[in-house]
Amino acid sequence: MQQEGLKFYRCNTCGNLFLTMVDPNVTPTCCGTSMEVLEANKLHDNAEKHVPIIDVQNGAINVKVGIQAHPMSKEHRIEWIALTNGDRVEIQKLGLTSAPTATFSDMPIGDGKLHAYSFCNIHGLWSSEK
Ligand SMILES: [Fe+2]
Repeated sequence: MQQEGLKFYRCNTCGNLFLTMVDPNVTPTCCGTSMEVLEANKLHDNAEKHVPIIDVQNGAINVKVGIQAHPMSKEHRIEWIALTNGDRVEIQKLGLTSAPTATFSDMPIGDGKLHAYSFCNIHGLWSSEK
């Protein structure tokens, strides 16, 4: 489930990321072409390696990608993990030597729903909520 109003866009030429918090009914452009809006959980195969798992412990929010850890190679990797809570958004870019996990220590934990997003360079955008 994707948070209402939040949209991620990707440039298919350079890989640039753009996000909107409200729907302005415009499609951003990059490298001279329209960016592709990313839809979460479009593929049903490989969900066990892509759906982000949100875990709250000791005031920190940990997001791990997949029940089975996703590969992190140059050819196939999780590029970034994002977490939202209400109007707040945090994105962590992952390096090739990173595990497919992210810790969000500064994200306030309130009564609202947490939404996590992970982006695989091959299998696209995945999301979950808690
Ligand atoms: Fe993948």
